[in-house]
Amino acid sequence: MARPRKTQTDVSPTPAPAATTRIPLRITDTTLRDAHQSLWATRMRTSDILKIIDTIDSVGYYSLEVWGGATFDVCLRFLRENPWERLRQIKARAKKTPLQMLLRGQNILGYKNYPDDVLEHFVSLAVKNGVDIFRIFDALNDTRNLEHAIKTVKRYGGHAQGTICYTVSPVHTVENFVQNAREQVAMGIDSLCIKDMAGILSPLSAEKLVSALVKEIHVPIQVHSHTTSGMATASYVDSVKAGAGAIDCAISSMAGFSSQPPVETMIAIFAETDYNANLDQDALRKICKYFIELAPSRRPDDGSTQNIIDPEVLLHHIPGGMISNLRSQLQQQNALDKLDQVFEELPRVRADLGYPPLVTPTSQIIGIQAVMNVLAGKRYELVPQEIKEYVRGQYGRSPAPINPAVKKAILGADKEITCRPADLMQPMLPNATEGIDPALIHNEEDIISYCLFPQPALDFFKWRHLPPEERPPSPAALERKKQDVEPKEEEKPAPPPRAFLAPSDYEALHELLNRVHDLKLNELTIRRDDLALTLKADGVATDSTPTAPAKSATTASAKPAPKAAHAPKAAAAAPAVDAALTIKAPLGGNFYTSSGPGKPAFVKVGDIVKAGQPVCIVEAMKLFNEIKAPCDGKITGILVEHGKPVKKDDPMISYEKA
Ligand code: CO
Repeated sequence: MARPRKTQTDVSPTPAPAATTRIPLRITDTTLRDAHQSLWATRMRTSDILKIIDTIDSVGYYSLEVWGGATFDVCLRFLRENPWERLRQIKARAKKTPLQMLLRGQNILGYKNYPDDVLEHFVSLAVKNGVDIFRIFDALNDTRNLEHAIKTVKRYGGHAQGTICYTVSPVHTVENFVQNAREQVAMGIDSLCIKDMAGILSPLSAEKLVSALVKEIHVPIQVHSHTTSGMATASYVDSVKAGAGAIDCAISSMAGFSSQPPVETMIAIFAETDYNANLDQDALRKICKYFIELAPSRRPDDGSTQNIIDPEVLLHHIPGGMISNLRSQLQQQNALDKLDQVFEELPRVRADLGYPPLVTPTSQIIGIQAVMNVLAGKRYELVPQEIKEYVRGQYGRSPAPINPAVKKAILGADKEITCRPADLMQPMLPNATEGIDPALIHNEEDIISYCLFPQPALDFFKWRHLPPEERPPSPAALERKKQDVEPKEEEKPAPPPRAFLAPSDYEALHELLNRVHDLKLNELTIRRDDLALTLKADGVATDSTPTAPAKSATTASAKPAPKAAHAPKAAAAAPAVDAALTIKAPLGGNFYTSSGPGKPAFVKVGDIVKAGQPVCIVEAMKLFNEIKAPCDGKITGILVEHGKPVKKDDPMISYEKA
């Protein structure tokens, strides 16, 4: 094996353990961040980490990646844990190994740019609570979005690792990446990571890119890849041979699939070479066993049979985490059969939008636009707010110009911005928690959590505020319980045959008929699960459900009907009203009446709205889709509670045409 062209010096805050005479190879362990994000939908608990952290700390790793956007978000949203507390507890125990976090540049941990004051305060608190190395990336590789983060990390004494988000496109050449790296070096980075989030970096491309970087820039190079396509192990070997001094691995029981290559495999390969990672094998064995035992109670049981290797990724280049997002998104819309169409649409959207690398947040916004194009059956008919902002330049510069026709269709008369997006932002901290009960906020860290994830943070604060015995189980605990008790699809007994209406439903039906009459509607559809019945004002009932029995009982005219003798109480809420004048959910997600906590509702009952005026938001795949009034009218009902989930085609708002 060839010797590296250049031996790099270690610049970690705490030097790696002294190696033998061989060339030291630094290994970052991603088990506590990327690995469980890739394999367990980020469901690792702090208590899981604390039971093994002493052993992980004793291995001799260069650094431990323990924190990032998804881990932070999931802590608040699902686990009802304080992510800052997790960091503090890990730091208190991992005394030998530097801790690393993944910082999304000006996006911090979120999905959009934040003003500089939030970024600065976040970095200062992250350093204070235990982060040593900040791997800083921008989804568009726009260095203007990295500069303030790099300088702030340096100012607070952290190690600033710059990042190139690796992707394949006509504009992403070795020269382009090297130029990008030069800009980051000029900004003061201590090291540089090649971040191959989809696992598509081939051994030859790795060798070429690392060689060019080692020649042109003079900071250590680290490579981060995923085993999705099966190439990462070989790409790591060629990267190290070309001069990369560090690689990212996970313990074997948390490696493979869409996670990192296994550390045990890598050290076995390098043991026969001049490189030496000098890791404690006994400790690795213990850690491996620990996660094998933990996996069954943490791994989501999503029913998908996953191949160890996904060769498709080499064709569509979609990162593993994004595929599971698309899958669950389509599942919510009852459109999982359209996954292949979305895979075909996605590269077209990406090309239209100037070939952004697919990594958070661009992966979400490009992904959902592809989903919407497929679901709507028409391209760019439904455009989420984030796509509009992206096209306007609010995420930064796209790697290639955006297709002018698409830009025009999305922006209309709206002006683009050409400066660094954060330059247009007002400081956020002075009024960050306005309108929130001060008793809910305990410290500065809480303020930052709230700035980054307002709703999940607020939900967590309220939950934490309850006496421990009154706290409901966390969403993650409920999810677990459901998985444990719910029989698998094939084991479920067949449902008993149903009549469309039970005798007890008649009062509800009569109430609905009264309402139809009052609203002067021509038509009313009643749904129960997958059964539907449409009532026409002329008294004709159309049964649109092929298997619905009891047809004879349901023909009715849309006129007030006498009350039934035997009246049930709560049945009125069961059928959903679906008439010409309801605004239905274009896709499944969460329904919001306003654009955020403390913000006024878009509309209330009785409001007169103009066509195109926003009336509510459906949040799907973490994106906020403003739903607009289809024509001028008057709001007659808000049919869903703020913050509650909606399925595709659920009626959300009823209104009368003006
Ligand atoms: Co990754």
